[in-house]
Amino acid sequence: MNVKSELLANLANADGEFVSGAALAEKLGVSRNAVWKAVKSLEAEGFSISSVTSKGYRLSDDNNRLSADLITPLLKTKEIGRTIKVFDEVDSTNNIARELETEKYPNGTVVIADRQTAGRGRIGRSFASPSGKGLYMSILVRPHFNLEYAPMITAAASCAAAEAVESLCGSPVMIKWVNDLYMNGKKICGILTEASLGLEMRVLDCATIGIGINVRRVGDSFDEELLKRATSIEDETGMALNRNVLCAEVLNRLEEYLGRIADRSFLSAYREREMLTGNMITANVGREKIVGEALGIDENANLILRLPTGEMKHLSSGEANLCRIRQ
Ligand code: BTN
Repeated sequence: MNVKSELLANLANADGEFVSGAALAEKLGVSRNAVWKAVKSLEAEGFSISSVTSKGYRLSDDNNRLSADLITPLLKTKEIGRTIKVFDEVDSTNNIARELETEKYPNGTVVIADRQTAGRGRIGRSFASPSGKGLYMSILVRPHFNLEYAPMITAAASCAAAEAVESLCGSPVMIKWVNDLYMNGKKICGILTEASLGLEMRVLDCATIGIGINVRRVGDSFDEELLKRATSIEDETGMALNRNVLCAEVLNRLEEYLGRIADRSFLSAYREREMLTGNMITANVGREKIVGEALGIDENANLILRLPTGEMKHLSSGEANLCRIRQ
């Protein structure tokens, strides 16, 4: 670790308290002048650090700059997030993570970007990813699951992200099958999982879990059409969450939820938050549009639907929307 990284990690560990220049200098084994120079250099990179003559340095609450050095001290994981790559701008973090698949980066490698120029959503859609506004990250996992478990990765990631957001802002977060998170009836997060099959095709070799959370006020960075459907945590709660803290909260829970796929125990948490259940919905399955009552989530994270004819369907993928909310 270099001086700047160590300095950031120490400030992150100080829980918002001031740390004196002398204490930092001793810890890092450098002069106080070297600490001061590192602070100035970090500020030039966009980190927001308060300095008070008699107290020392402290990471400002409004620091909105992403950094692996600020995320790592908050992790409680064994593997997820133990390698983190942070970029200012990429086309899509999923693209970068998928390039890393072939370079044998370890299970749990995370790619994060401040903005994406070609953020991807499901079904060929784009995902608006303006600078400073969201947490755009992709996690490379090497689960060696049997293929039947693949759809459950997205569902487990939805639980992790929903719980992380809720724990930080206190407002309820719902999951709309299969992978959208909602707050006050509007979308705040989408998840796109892309998988690579093993050679013998029955085993999931590698999967990239792409998570996009709208964190800060979106204002005019979303167009009118998007604003009807999507919102941000800050727009809904007034809380400007720290993206580094949110990232660590998601990763900590992701490791736990991924570990609960094999015995399917994560499904109870998923079902508690799922918002289509009990309502009339429309679902696009391939080119077909069907209407039915969503009865719940089955053991494979499929949506159970009762059609008007009484026929039951278990949907493994597709796009579903509420058409009438049960009173
Ligand atoms: C959806 O809403 O349909 C899924 C959106 C997924 C967006 C995330 S942001 C990080 C990762 N990189 C991408 O290009 N997409 C995912």
